[in-house]
Amino acid sequence: MTHRIYYFSGTGNSLWVTRKIRDSLPDTEIIPITRDMPAELAARKSEGPETLESVGLVFPVYLGKPPRIVLEFIRKMPKTDYIYAVATCGMIPGKPLADIKKGLLSTGNFLSAGYIVPLISNFIVFPKTKTDAGIEKAFKKAEAKAQIISMNVQKKASFFDKETPSFLIKPAGWLLLNRAYHRIPELDEKFSVNDECDSCGACRNVCPVQNIQITASKPVFLHNCELCFSCINWCPRQAINWTPLTKKRRRYHCKGISQNDVVSNRYYKNK
Ligand SMILES: Cc1cc2nc3c(=O)[nH]c(=O)nc-3n(C[C@H](O)[C@H](O)[C@H](O)COP(=O)(O)O)c2cc1C
Repeated sequence: MTHRIYYFSGTGNSLWVTRKIRDSLPDTEIIPITRDMPAELAARKSEGPETLESVGLVFPVYLGKPPRIVLEFIRKMPKTDYIYAVATCGMIPGKPLADIKKGLLSTGNFLSAGYIVPLISNFIVFPKTKTDAGIEKAFKKAEAKAQIISMNVQKKASFFDKETPSFLIKPAGWLLLNRAYHRIPELDEKFSVNDECDSCGACRNVCPVQNIQITASKPVFLHNCELCFSCINWCPRQAINWTPLTKKRRRYHCKGISQNDVVSNRYYKNK
């Protein structure tokens, strides 16, 4: 393989973008970032050094930052010459690229390019802001951007999209976001399951970090959550809520990605 993309995705947007980049970048392998990645990386390392042209990281933005699992993963990445990051988001990305840059630098790696791809927010605490036509437009724009990204990767271009300027979010806002971000693993205590639940196990299967067990016929959240909102959005009976705010909200997952696509990417070993 010449190019590799590591990705993390809860409701499919980031997987969709990953596939679009792969489709226009020859000889590209895509690998989900999972909790068994460190073992996988160690195994690859023992096979000798790899010569990849590029390594991409594609992930959603959570509270203005990359998912915690992605930040943990990049600290274990072997030295690579050309690394680029692609953050998918709703409307306000925050500063996810700056966090990736900093995380990579701490291990002697360097971020050569960074992109923001606005799509649809799966954080259904807030009401839907886009019409169906708006959703279609966002995906068309994202597709064109994926092509630009793959062209830039082949040229090993150095390019950075603008992130949210600090003045747009007041210091107190950043502080609140930061605090909530650090509490993410326990924020699953705000999930509740109603009587519509028939214990089908879909939530457990789509959870990218094995944070859900079905005990006494109900999902139990194990406080090691990434808050990807996969469980709530993929539940076929709309039985899961996160605070009362999500009760009346329409669920979201990426149109071109099936539940099976998501489940089969939950463990590296399944690939
Ligand atoms: C807990 C949570 C926090 C989020 N925070 C932000 C945010 O700060 N800014 C933003 O634009 N989108 C935010 N989003 C929306 C996601 O970044 C966006 O929908 C992303 O494309 C989802 O990717 P996925 O489908 O691959 O999981 C958030 C989503 C969740 C679940």
